[in-house]
Amino acid sequence: MAYETIIVEIEDHICLVRLNRPDAMNALNDVLFKELAEALTEAQKNDKVRCIVITGSEKFFAAGADIKMMSERSFVDVFESDLFTAEADAFLRVRKPIIAAVSGYALGGGCELAMMCDFIIASDTAKFGQPEINLGVVAGIGGTQRLTRAVGKAKAMDMNLTGRFMDAEEAERSGLVSRVVPAKKLMEEAMAAAGKIAEKSMITVMVVKEAVNRSFETPLREGLLFERRVFNSLFATEDQKEGMAAFLEKREAQFRDK
Ligand code: HXC
Repeated sequence: MAYETIIVEIEDHICLVRLNRPDAMNALNDVLFKELAEALTEAQKNDKVRCIVITGSEKFFAAGADIKMMSERSFVDVFESDLFTAEADAFLRVRKPIIAAVSGYALGGGCELAMMCDFIIASDTAKFGQPEINLGVVAGIGGTQRLTRAVGKAKAMDMNLTGRFMDAEEAERSGLVSRVVPAKKLMEEAMAAAGKIAEKSMITVMVVKEAVNRSFETPLREGLLFERRVFNSLFATEDQKEGMAAFLEKREAQFRDK
């Protein structure tokens, strides 16, 4: 499908989504978020897709929600449209893993978009921030919530209150990103990680995603119970038999998503 603000390519079971508003540092506007939600929903439905990677350009992942678009809006405008909320909900319905490959600026909504993904691989040039306070607003799609869960209260307060940027090294040290790689290697590394995931049983992959995400929604005891229930239930799959047989026979498993 042809989009105006993103470029979508599907190859080797990986759906690569590139944010593409270079004139505005990939600032997120209504069209981009709608197109992104559409592309992810399509990727979820497409049997060929086993993992999704979202990226920007080398200099910027996304510099936040489009300030030009928002500047003239009234309280009633943003209240009624609930900016990006429906699209963010569509994001949460995607059961296949989504990796954010971040190079350059990931600010405001850009940082929040990266955090909506399942994990972030950052280039050594990445800069994360929630500078909304400088605009007289606060983060609106997770910058006070997901960031706090990722890096803890002290750094989340620091970033949201001062608007300062966090570089890739600090982001990795703080648990915001899973790995940092040289900028030139970012896409190679992100696609290799997606490729590794694509080799697994899709059932197991989706269960892992659901179980880890469940840990943010439940008390530990409930989360552990959920984990044990899904662990048990995977013994009803052919892929469990195949995975364990392959190990014992010292060969690669051939998963069939059954
Ligand atoms: C619209 C943006 C933009 C944005 C950059 N641009 N960020 N346009 N919305 N968020 C545009 C600039 O206007 C400029 O366009 C061009 O991109 C290049 O930007 P410069 O500022 O000239 O580049 P530079 O000096 O290198 O500085 C880069 C930057 C800075 C540090 C990223 O642009 C910046 O601070 N941007 C805003 C970051 C921000 O505040 N994000 C939070 C937004 S609020 P022209 O036409 O002049 O060349 C948000 C809320 C989310 O995200 C919640 C929603 C529910």
